[in-house]
This record gives sequence, C-alpha cells and structure tokens, in this order.
Amino acid sequence: MPQTNPTRSSQSRVARLIDRAKRQPGGRNVYGLMKMISNPRASWESIVRSHLARDDVFIRQTCWHHGTLPRLPLTDVVPEARLCDVTLPRALSRKSGTSISAEEACQLASIAKGRMVRRALEIGTFDGNTALVLAANMAPDGEVVTVDLPPDFSMQEQSSLAFPDVGLNLTERDQVGRQFQGHELSKRIRQVYGDSAALDWSAFGGPFDLIFIDGCHAKAYVRSDSDNAFRQLAPGGIVVWHDYGMIADVSEVVDQLAREHPAMKFLAIEGTRLAVAVT
Ligand SMILES: C[S@@+](CC[C@H](N)C(=O)[O-])C[C@H]1O[C@@H](n2cnc3c(N)ncnc32)[C@H](O)[C@@H]1O
Repeated sequence: MPQTNPTRSSQSRVARLIDRAKRQPGGRNVYGLMKMISNPRASWESIVRSHLARDDVFIRQTCWHHGTLPRLPLTDVVPEARLCDVTLPRALSRKSGTSISAEEACQLASIAKGRMVRRALEIGTFDGNTALVLAANMAPDGEVVTVDLPPDFSMQEQSSLAFPDVGLNLTERDQVGRQFQGHELSKRIRQVYGDSAALDWSAFGGPFDLIFIDGCHAKAYVRSDSDNAFRQLAPGGIVVWHDYGMIADVSEVVDQLAREHPAMKFLAIEGTRLAVAVT
C-alpha cells in the first residue's frame, strides 16, 4: 500500500491554496504578501535588487504612486492588438523623462495598428518621435495632427497662456518635431502650433479615432485637453493619457473623468504610464 507523506500532502495543499489565491482578483498582492511573510530575507533582497536599483530611468518608470484605475493588459480593451506586428521608427531615439518609453510606444503603436486608426491627434509633440510611431502604424492614408507651443515661445510669455499660473513643462524649442522633419513619414504628420487650451480644436480636422494627451501635465490643462478630446472623439474612438500613475494631476483628472463617464471603459495599461478610455 502506498505511503502518504503527511508533510508533503499538506505542502501541496498549501501550494494549491496559494495557486488559487493568485488567480483571485487582487490575488497577486495576497500572494506577494504571503511570500514576503514566509521569506522576509529573500523579499528584502528582491526589493533592494529591483526597486532600489541605481537607475533613475528604471525608478521613474516603475514607481507609481497615484491613480485608482485597474491595471490591466491593453488587450482587455483592444483585443485586436494581440496579433499586431508594429513598427517603431527610431525606437531608441527617445529622450527618457520627456518622451514615452519604448514599451509605451509598442502599446500605442498596437492601438493604432489594431484599430486601423486613420485620424490621430497628439497633444504635446516634443521632438516628434511619438508622432512618427503613430504615423508608422496607422492606416496608410491616415494623418497625425500634433500640437505644441510655437517654436519661438519662451517662458517669459507664460502669462499669455490660458492657464498662466501652472508649472509649465516647456521643452527645448529647437527640438519640436525634429524627428519627423525630413522623414518619409512626415507626409502623414501635420504640425499645429499653439496653446492647447486656447486653440479651437474643431479646426484640427477631426473627429479623431485616437487622441493622445501628453502636453502640459498641470491639472487645469489635463482637464481642458481631456474635455476637448471627448468633444473631438470619433464614435468608437480611444483617448490615451501619458504619465498616469506617475503624475498626481494627470491621475486625479483621469480618475475624475472615469467617474463622470461611466459608459466608457477606463483602465491603466499594466507595465506602463498609459491610461486609456474607450467607448
Ligand atoms: C512630455 S512632452 C511631449 C512628449 C511627446 N508626446 C513624446 O511622446 O515624445 C510635453 C510637450 O507639451 C508641450 N506643451 C506644454 N504646454 C503646452 C501647451 N499649453 N500647449 C501645447 N503644448 C504644450 C511642451 O512644449 C512639450 O513639448
């Protein structure tokens, strides 16, 4: 008669319980907590290795403190993205801290490709790398409209803006759109200059299938850009915000919008600082 080892059978019962806990909503947190309690030394070493790494970019991109949206894979709302092959022009030519990361560019490209976007709007051009990503992955007859403050705008002119008293993230003026100037994809990109909160969005040529909000991150601007975006969104379109989870103002506005638009599905794309809203 086979002998049952009581220790082994109780171990496998614990393993089954852990496995079941992992599959429950929020179960990974419970699993992480159980692991931490059961092996504090290994957990501390793991925290030191992965979270206190001496790599500013890593820390900036992985430390999320804000926002209440569920963190889910993009494919939960854009299932077409699962089978997409995407193109990342100048994939490593992006300025960390100002531009989106290569992972975020992949996700954005998958949205454009998966949804066969024809009209895209970006608020906050910076050097144009993300406009290139959108242009490379949208329908060939599509167009990206990208908005930034004028090339000769200076900080001394901040009082002329719609919201003059906020923290302004003005980038180097000679960099605006630099990456798509002379690029073969530039024929799909149209640059618009102006203050996003003062411009007339109905003149941009919408409605848009995809609107990417990444301009001024102060609350008043994120709110104004989002309200304008919802007005210019094509039926079935998607709004994407950058810096969700990382910047408090962005996260608070997006969370508030999620409460105000219960018919839309809002989520934070796991592994990124992107939040999306889809109809
Ligand atoms: C974070 S950068 C954009 C990064 C870009 N989307 C990318 O992925 O590479 C923000 C941009 O918004 C622009 N910006 C700031 N305030 C603005 C405003 N009121 N209207 C239009 N653009 C603004 C800045 O000049 C800057 O180039």
